[in-house]
Amino acid sequence: MRFFFFSSFLLFWLTALFLGSQGQFPITQNVTVVEGGTANMTCRVDYNDNTSLQWSNPAQQTLFFGDKKALRDHRIELVRATSQELTIRINDVSLSDEGQYTCSLFTMPVKTTKAFLTVLGVPSRPEITGFTKPAMEGDEITLTCITSGSKPAANIRWFRNDKEDIKTLKFQIVNATGKSFAVRSSLLFQVDKRDDGVAYTCSVEHVSLYKPYMTTEVLEVHYAPQLEITHSLIIPQEGQYFKLECVSIGNPIPEPVLWSKDGGELPDIERMIVEGRELTITTLNKTDNGTYRCEASNHVGTSFAEYILFVYDPNALGQRGPDHALIGGVVAVVVFITLCLIIVLGRYLARHKGTYLTHEAKGAEDAPDADTAIINAEGNHVHAEEKKEYFI
Ligand SMILES: *[C@@H]1O[C@H](CO)[C@@H](O)[C@H](O)[C@H]1NC(C)=O
Ligand SMILES: *[C@@H]1O[C@H](CO)[C@@H](O)[C@H](O)[C@H]1NC(C)=O
Ligand SMILES: *[C@@H]1O[C@H](CO)[C@@H](O)[C@H](O)[C@H]1NC(C)=O
Ligand SMILES: *[C@@H]1O[C@H](CO)[C@@H](O)[C@H](O)[C@H]1NC(C)=O
Ligand SMILES: *[C@@H]1O[C@H](CO)[C@@H](O)[C@H](O)[C@H]1NC(C)=O
Ligand SMILES: *[C@@H]1O[C@H](CO)[C@@H](O)[C@H](O)[C@H]1NC(C)=O
Repeated sequence: MRFFFFSSFLLFWLTALFLGSQGQFPITQNVTVVEGGTANMTCRVDYNDNTSLQWSNPAQQTLFFGDKKALRDHRIELVRATSQELTIRINDVSLSDEGQYTCSLFTMPVKTTKAFLTVLGVPSRPEITGFTKPAMEGDEITLTCITSGSKPAANIRWFRNDKEDIKTLKFQIVNATGKSFAVRSSLLFQVDKRDDGVAYTCSVEHVSLYKPYMTTEVLEVHYAPQLEITHSLIIPQEGQYFKLECVSIGNPIPEPVLWSKDGGELPDIERMIVEGRELTITTLNKTDNGTYRCEASNHVGTSFAEYILFVYDPNALGQRGPDHALIGGVVAVVVFITLCLIIVLGRYLARHKGTYLTHEAKGAEDAPDADTAIINAEGNHVHAEEKKEYFI
């Protein structure tokens, strides 16, 4: 049974080959072309006894019979007509040119071959709609990207500052308008201040495009001011020069900033100088203690920030010893770390020399004699205890 199939197959191909060698068979190829381009339709016959060739379109209209033009269409031209080949050219191809073209060889009976002409529709440059400039913080907005004229349907991707945006809701509708497609994709989200100045890019990808078409919309978002006060000194002392700055963000930029102290106006205009966002106190005085506030607004809202100034007495600072405590702490840490290192190093050496050094014998290593060694070791021990207490 299987052998029968095989042999009938073989017979079929031998027959085909025989007929082929007789030369009486037209050969064509499918063609794909981008809308507006040029399509070459070639039909070949390897061995021909001057039998005529013909090309006809999907509507069965004859385009060329040999070198004779049959259809009045200025876009269609003859490229080559020999007994072995009939090649025609269709310029400025449109989507409606797509379909099955037929090459006929007028033997008895007529032999035909089909060639499919595929026309790719080029998408239009994408357009982004749905954004009113500026948006208000908290607004729900829908950015819609539209491209039409593609065939097959184009693919739309969204990028937020060049990073592909996948978090936001996205939907795509393919609308068949005649022979090509309109594709739209929307992003739905709530804007906040981080969207201010962010570039949203719609990218259209398609087989007919060498690189994607891109359109970018830079968002502008209006939001209420946010203020923060920075100070020039950590421990402001009497007599020092001191500066506060009211750092603000907001769109539109909130200006001017207003300074106040303890709910009232600045008490000493001579020493307290306001310049733009900065408040400078030329020589600090104990009486400057209090709460300083800067306030700013734009059309979205008003905000403020506060700083509590506590002017230290430089003399009092010298006697009380926060600095001494600090230095003591640092020294303690350094000593502790050094001890740890010595212990670790000692163990390491001990292991590598093959001897065993106890923890207590630590200080003994570089002592000139046994007595000093014991004293050293004990001293270290006591020292370590001290440190521990200090830490607790
Ligand atoms: C079509 O044929 C012409 C002439 O032979 C040639 O210049 C052109 O490159 C061809 N175009 C394509 C798309 O094959
Ligand atoms: C084909 O036609 C040409 C002239 O039209 C002639 O010279 C040639 O012999 C013919 N070939 C065959 C195989 O009939
Ligand atoms: C040509 O295109 C037609 C229709 O798309 C398809 O059925 C056929 O297989 C193609 N032929 C070749 C040789 O690619
Ligand atoms: C395609 O879009 C057009 C306008 O953009 C609309 O009028 C038409 O109804 C849509 N067709 C489908 C099938 O959605
Ligand atoms: C602080 O202000 C008081 C009264 O305004 C003044 O008498 C005093 O000298 C000032 N102290 C310093 C250090 O400037
Ligand atoms: C300001 O603070 C200092 C503490 O350094 C305090 O001694 C002084 O009495 C305070 N002055 C006022 C007016 O609150």
